[in-house]
Amino acid sequence: MIDTLRQIFATALKQTFGNDVTFVEPLVVPATNPRFGDYQCNVALPLAKQLKDNPRAIAQRIVDNINLDEFCQPLEIAGPGFINITIKPEYIAQQITTAHQDERLGVTAITPEGKTVIDFSSPNIAKEMHVGHLRSTIIGDSIARILEFRGHNVLRLNHVGDWGTQFGMLIAFLRQEKPEVLTTANAVAIGDLVTLYKQAKSKFDQDPEFKEEARQEVVKLQSKDSESIKAWQLLCEQSRKEFQIIYDLLDIELTERGESFYNPFLPAIINLLEEENLLVEDQGAKCVFLDNFVNKQGDPLPLIVQKSDGGYNYATTDLACLKYRIEEDKATKIIYVTDAGQSNHFTQVFQVAQKANIVPENVELVHVPFGLVLAEDGKKIKTRSGETIRLKDLLDEAINRAKKDLENRLESEGRNEDESFINHVSQVVGLSAVKYADLSQNRTTDYKFSFDKMLALQGNTAPYLLYAYVRVQGISRKGNIDLDNLEINKSIIIKEESELVLAKHLLQLDYVIKEVEKDLLPNRLCLYLFELSQKFNQFYDQCPILQAEEDVKLSRLILADLTAKVIKLGLSLLGISVLERM
Ligand code: ARG
Repeated sequence: MIDTLRQIFATALKQTFGNDVTFVEPLVVPATNPRFGDYQCNVALPLAKQLKDNPRAIAQRIVDNINLDEFCQPLEIAGPGFINITIKPEYIAQQITTAHQDERLGVTAITPEGKTVIDFSSPNIAKEMHVGHLRSTIIGDSIARILEFRGHNVLRLNHVGDWGTQFGMLIAFLRQEKPEVLTTANAVAIGDLVTLYKQAKSKFDQDPEFKEEARQEVVKLQSKDSESIKAWQLLCEQSRKEFQIIYDLLDIELTERGESFYNPFLPAIINLLEEENLLVEDQGAKCVFLDNFVNKQGDPLPLIVQKSDGGYNYATTDLACLKYRIEEDKATKIIYVTDAGQSNHFTQVFQVAQKANIVPENVELVHVPFGLVLAEDGKKIKTRSGETIRLKDLLDEAINRAKKDLENRLESEGRNEDESFINHVSQVVGLSAVKYADLSQNRTTDYKFSFDKMLALQGNTAPYLLYAYVRVQGISRKGNIDLDNLEINKSIIIKEESELVLAKHLLQLDYVIKEVEKDLLPNRLCLYLFELSQKFNQFYDQCPILQAEEDVKLSRLILADLTAKVIKLGLSLLGISVLERM
């Protein structure tokens, strides 16, 4: 709807004022308050300034020159010159019928041009996959689902940290303490690798002799010594298995292409920067100086691309990776989902890539930063004994708590359900709760991880929405009419205010999804779904469905059915699957 209005306004404005004036986009926005109708056009005010005229008079000229009778009530001019737009209920009714019959529920699809790479999750081998990676995984997956649904060609890439000096250290340590890990698959329990890594690190920090051995090991690895490579591969294999457990639980599709993949392309990056005259030697290291990057003292802060010992780093890899994604993957948009702590890194890498002419004009680079996940006391998440929490344990706890809640509820409702039902529901509820708690926050802020809040049946939570779906679905099912195959092309009837409010909200889905596509903020979709369930509740309170007369009953059943479908689709775009019973 909003797109249609924008188009009509654009044409009318051009006809009325000619091409010499500029109009502030967007021409039409959703109304900030239902008192002002459904949409607003606020262009009269800036236009009046340009034309040195009275804004109300300008608004009047717009209103006189636009014909929206087909969809809208007569336009109203309010305050200093806002134009309020209210859609006619008959038009809403017609749109609802169309959306209900559309398998995409009224959400338009684009014809993809180019390719969007989404770099997300990206944990590091042999180090733990921490809550930050969980956030990247959940947010990245949801963004991918939303873009895919809109029709984009998406390549989901897992840029795992599978290379670097830490491997020298770990291999040197294991060679002394647990050599079998380096020669046999699965010689160490999944998860123990992280502990061994920590021990290696502490030895590295304390023991100069060991430090030297670790350095030698890095050299061997870099020169592709076969024994070292085999050890490295075994370590990667082991970590990968651990990551996969999490991805399977969370239903995440990802293609792994780790840092090591770009090793062969690193020297060429240095050459390229050299050719572009961007390299400067600073205390033996090769760097690129950037605009607007200074340290605390105000001295220019360079991006190091080759260390004084000749080694490359995270930034060099990201430059090679960027180039590869553009040239080989043909990416036209690259989205990086990482914690906000890496914002500087990406600004620098993007700037260097631009300066080195790696990024053609049609390619867009986007960093999607997110805040920290904190414990309820605002500190870092830890176990009771102060250890860092393993993701698997965290997810298991969510499932276990969901199970307890469910068992209590079943008991109080006097229901008897079998083991497989209980396990399935707890798993879906527990995991959805974790995902939704993350996605419903504006990602740029830190959020506090609270099992109690995320598992609550009330409020903007996954259990609330899952429950809303079960209820709405139940109601439309009770109608006993096959709504998917209505014989007559029945248009719905909208009489009550709460029906109208619900219907209008249902029709906002297309707009909301496009907004998320633009801002990459899935919390907007969460809020939309939460408000949808609330509006459905008000409608259900005020409008009898099954007891209503035949045509009203059918009409209300369609509203209920569409609500259920929208919740299901919306949740699926957040990576959450619905339950038919819970
Ligand atoms: N492995 C990194 C980390 O754990 C994230 C990688 C993000 N992607 C990238 N292309 N740098 O922080």
